[in-house]
Amino acid sequence: MSIRTVIRGGLVVTASDELHADVLIEDGRIAALASTGTPAADAWTAERTIDATGKYVIPGGVDGHTHMEMPFGGTYAADTFETGTRAAAWGGTTTIVDFAIQSVGGALREGLDAWHAKAEGNCAIDYGFHMIVSDVNENTLKEMDHLVEEGVTSFKQFMAYPGVFYSDDGQILRAMQRAADNGGLIMMHAENGIAIDVLVEQALARGETDPRFHGEVRKALLEAEATHRAIRLAQVAGAPLYVVHVSAMEAVAELARARDEGLPVFGETCPQYLFLSTDNLAEPDFEGAKYVCSTPLRPREHQAKLWQGLRTNDLQVVSTDHCPFCFVGQKELGRGDFSKIPNGMPGVENRMDLLHQAVVDGHISRRRWIEIACATPARMFGLYPKKGTIAPGADADVVIYDPAAEQVLSAETHHMNVDYSAYEGKRITGRVESVLSRGELVITEREYTGHAGHGVYTPRSTCQYLN
Ligand code: URP
Ligand code: ZN
Ligand code: ZN
Ligand code: ZN
Repeated sequence: MSIRTVIRGGLVVTASDELHADVLIEDGRIAALASTGTPAADAWTAERTIDATGKYVIPGGVDGHTHMEMPFGGTYAADTFETGTRAAAWGGTTTIVDFAIQSVGGALREGLDAWHAKAEGNCAIDYGFHMIVSDVNENTLKEMDHLVEEGVTSFKQFMAYPGVFYSDDGQILRAMQRAADNGGLIMMHAENGIAIDVLVEQALARGETDPRFHGEVRKALLEAEATHRAIRLAQVAGAPLYVVHVSAMEAVAELARARDEGLPVFGETCPQYLFLSTDNLAEPDFEGAKYVCSTPLRPREHQAKLWQGLRTNDLQVVSTDHCPFCFVGQKELGRGDFSKIPNGMPGVENRMDLLHQAVVDGHISRRRWIEIACATPARMFGLYPKKGTIAPGADADVVIYDPAAEQVLSAETHHMNVDYSAYEGKRITGRVESVLSRGELVITEREYTGHAGHGVYTPRSTCQYLN
């Protein structure tokens, strides 16, 4: 139940402002903000008062890229909607946009219905869906129109994974043309999967089977090439483009060039590319498998260019691509053949903290933290200002964040349903203290007080950067 609440004394940080203000919450929404200590704020009465003195009061995180329970690589991502959204809440994220999957030969509608059935009644926080389009045909194209009308306004296509999710250039062009007409946003997994598969086969034939070879065959140039091709296909179609999980500096350069030309192209990166590298993929005793994801981790020198892209707005969003597979029993499927390691990494719980650490380390400003993690993903995916900000009328999705607390990330203490942390032992300054979702406390001073089924499906409008 959402009760009339006032949050007093914190520093409210949004993408555009920082102000010492009290925040009044009524009926699950932000009712008002007023400067702390002013008669207007002091006059508010509430059933519950949260003291945020010395803390930040920030919008709940919006993670625009998760894969709960995703069937992939012969197994399933280990977090269910229940465990994954609970872990998200622990980490200060109050909305996820997950990917429903069209199976080859199936309808978009079947895939979407199946994902609704997995999520409904199980989520701790609000959620929406993108649609993975694996099979472009006349029916699929018509269905895209209907999905946009009902709030599934973005479609992921893959230039990678031939035989699984792969679309060829003609299929991509057709989907992009449709998106240009119906207002949808094409999200692209940009890697040249056909060329990569040749390199995989050649590497395995040479006996190169360790996880580190995953990083070597999935070359930065093949990410850049696919990014370039996706940009030009979108330009021909007259459609906007959002490139997911950008890891290569050469791909950032392609995005920057296209944006300089004035094209509506956008880029997302993920914490794993900002904080981890091929050094992790090379960890001995098959431990590198923990870091197998696609696009892959890159050599360290790419990180500076990703941070730069986030500062210059050539990259706009940091999502997690949360797709966890346990080391035992899941990542191990690829012992002796790196191409059989399920692709994906955990992180939905860590994103807000890692990006706060980036503020502490001087990579980004405090407001940019909120912009790339809350406001821009909300705008990109048609959820703003309901989500992604603290303003009158917005959903009361609010995090009380302690910027001075110290924590050490570890699988021992995290809440994701996965047996390792990609950031084991990493020290972070800053920690989530309490989290409200639509005015209800789901984390109360480091205790989980939410419940499965609190989170509701949230239909989305079209991308808010285009109109
Ligand atoms: O390795 C990854 N990224 N797994 C999840 C699926 C995808 O391509 O986003
Ligand atoms: Zn992908
Ligand atoms: Zn993904
Ligand atoms: Zn509830």
